[in-house]
Amino acid sequence: MNLIDKFHNWRRRLRWNKQYRKGRWDNLRNPIEAERYNTIINYIKTHAKSEPSILDLGAGEGVLNEYINAENFSYFLGMDFSDVSIQKAKAKNFPKAEFVTADIHTYTPSQKFDVIIFNEAFYYVHDSEKQNVLDRMLAHLTDEGILIVSIYREGTGCWEYFDKMKQLDFTTVKTNEEKTYWKIGAYKQ
Ligand SMILES: C[S@@+](CC[C@H](N)C(=O)[O-])C[C@H]1O[C@@H](n2cnc3c(N)ncnc32)[C@H](O)[C@@H]1O
Repeated sequence: MNLIDKFHNWRRRLRWNKQYRKGRWDNLRNPIEAERYNTIINYIKTHAKSEPSILDLGAGEGVLNEYINAENFSYFLGMDFSDVSIQKAKAKNFPKAEFVTADIHTYTPSQKFDVIIFNEAFYYVHDSEKQNVLDRMLAHLTDEGILIVSIYREGTGCWEYFDKMKQLDFTTVKTNEEKTYWKIGAYKQ
């Protein structure tokens, strides 16, 4: 990213912090979102090794942890560049889970994971960095590890990055609202 892109990224982080402070993202807990989280959890149960380690990129307030039973994983690391959302996630004391503040553009995981998740996060990666970020995360996936990607609506300019991977699953989670749907894929290297 050039200097101007970095500046915009910094401003976006401040905006996310402000929105999390105001409760703007409380709607992620609405029942309409539940099937999205449950689809991700089913992919983990179906395609990952048992009790995997999980890295959730752009984890926000840790809403996925509100759905996933801690018996289904050995360790969960959520990261997000909004320190406000990370503080909220930490305050919930989810079992076997840790949360860190980091920017996805520069974040290098300190270990390998069995499951890496971009849950409504990949489209926020700057276009010039999408391939770099994906490659860096894939380098931290265990040999049998899986990548899970959830993207709101069509995800134009995103899905092609996962074409080279082996697709294990792909679903469109629909709702009663025509324009509210998510595409969710599971992949292996
Ligand atoms: C729509 S929210 C999804 C939150 C969570 N994955 C969920 O589904 O409950 C997108 C999240 O991506 C985070 N995000 C956006 N850009 C980011 C970046 N450059 N680095 C890390 N996190 C980022 C935001 O702070 C926000 O928490």
